[in-house]
Amino acid sequence: MNDETQRPAATIVTAAPRHEPKPADPCVMVIFGAFGDLTKRLVVPALYNLTRTGILPAHFALIGVDLADGTAESWREHLHTMLESFVGNTSAEFEVDKIDDKAWSSLAGRMSYVQGDITKPELYNKLADTLAEVQKKQGIGGNVMFYLAVADRFFGTVVDRLGDAKLTHQDEGEDGKPRFWRRVVIEKPFGHDLASARALNAEIGRSLREDQIFRIDHFLGKETVQNIMAFRFANGLFEPLWNRDRIDHVQITVAETVGVEGRGKFYEVTGALRDMVPNHVFTLLAMVAMEPPVGFDAQSIRNKKGEVFTAVPPVPPENAVRGQYGPGKVLGQPKKAYREEPNVAKDSNIETYCAMKLEIDNWRWAGVPFYLRTGKNMASRLTEIAIRFKEAPHAPFESGPAGPPPPNWLVITIQPDEGISLQFEVKRPGPEVVLATVRMNFSYSDWFPKEPNVGYETLLYDVMIGDATLFHRADMVEEAWRVVQPVLDAWGSQKADFPNYVSGSDGPSAADALIARDGGRRWRPVTSDTEHKA
Ligand code: BG6
Repeated sequence: MNDETQRPAATIVTAAPRHEPKPADPCVMVIFGAFGDLTKRLVVPALYNLTRTGILPAHFALIGVDLADGTAESWREHLHTMLESFVGNTSAEFEVDKIDDKAWSSLAGRMSYVQGDITKPELYNKLADTLAEVQKKQGIGGNVMFYLAVADRFFGTVVDRLGDAKLTHQDEGEDGKPRFWRRVVIEKPFGHDLASARALNAEIGRSLREDQIFRIDHFLGKETVQNIMAFRFANGLFEPLWNRDRIDHVQITVAETVGVEGRGKFYEVTGALRDMVPNHVFTLLAMVAMEPPVGFDAQSIRNKKGEVFTAVPPVPPENAVRGQYGPGKVLGQPKKAYREEPNVAKDSNIETYCAMKLEIDNWRWAGVPFYLRTGKNMASRLTEIAIRFKEAPHAPFESGPAGPPPPNWLVITIQPDEGISLQFEVKRPGPEVVLATVRMNFSYSDWFPKEPNVGYETLLYDVMIGDATLFHRADMVEEAWRVVQPVLDAWGSQKADFPNYVSGSDGPSAADALIARDGGRRWRPVTSDTEHKA
């Protein structure tokens, strides 16, 4: 069988002509945390991919800033070694057959390095000099993107120092518009609770206008997450079903097979709730629950997402469950308990799993519960949004031996097998009327070639063109923290009975009880094997 015969019988009926992306604005990108993990695993590989695909502006330069003793040369080598480790590596962020030497040399040739302590004003003077030099040498105007790939406790300080050194200042021309842009990309976690998120917004707001701030959430770089909007708003079919009349409940799952992976120190002050829920899981929530935006500009879309969060009441602690993994086996590999991980306390009270039920108090969703869960060391890697429809109003088949027919599910799988699947009932061929549950599957890989991509490409490009659609606004971040704050407070002050789930399982039994409380509902199994999903 060749590739063509393996494709679905149908073909793409119409596709909007593929327009070439507009070239990004000429700019300098400054990465704080140049020798850090994020920079080498994701940010620079994404820049390399943008170079490969010709989207990076011709006038572009990259300045790395770090405390580590280094030079432009040693930084380049460090990054190249990482890139080499992707070659033929199926478990890497992205697998490549070989490094495109031309693309790499082009990117590497634009790199400079500034060594120094990001808390000290002197560094920013040094940075200003290098910036001016690079801008002059490479004919780049005043546009600068500052990327904060540093520990979150430094976010406020770095922005303050950039402000003090006037590096975030955008000169205005005679028309009152900035002559060039200065933008700051801030990684997560943005605050660790509502009060700290508010304080951080206020602090960075002293040096930056909101349109200069790009709060990044890499889930929004995932194609399938972005596709949820296309799926919902480019198809008339689903909108009439997308409400409390037709939908029974929604389950959002972000299950990981990895544990804390040497990040014990970070995790001990973070935990699953802070690490995943008000950011990544809420991103999925917003996509599925938002109202149709009036336009597809950043303002309209972010308004609608923000409205979803505003409509969610704070989650009472009794509607949330926490878990921590004990020893077990994940995908056949033995795993130790969380409390045995490096830099983790032997009596740690930190959760590696959490589940919660929340409500959205608006016209569309009143009475439709949203169940969210995320955890580490679970049975399978699976990120999905599962929408369970209400049962048929009248079931003529009820008397069958298997009871009433199961309800319909619409499942949007974000990873690992990106696609959309609709589950419904059909009659099994034969003389008797016997029902069978079947699925209609759309799989991205059947239709579109997979681009080697780490997920940061679109996001970096969007910063360069000033499109904030895929970034969180100050109010959205604060609203998300507000929703989970009661749970954070309760968990921070009460000792848990941990560990309470086996590594390689679907999570703690208390989570099953949480959802079963509502009329015997059940979580979908955490397995990417679709055969088990009926
Ligand atoms: C990060 C979290 O933001 O997202 C990690 O800090 C988590 O703990 C990761 O593993 C999940 O992202 P992805 O893209 O691998 O699903």
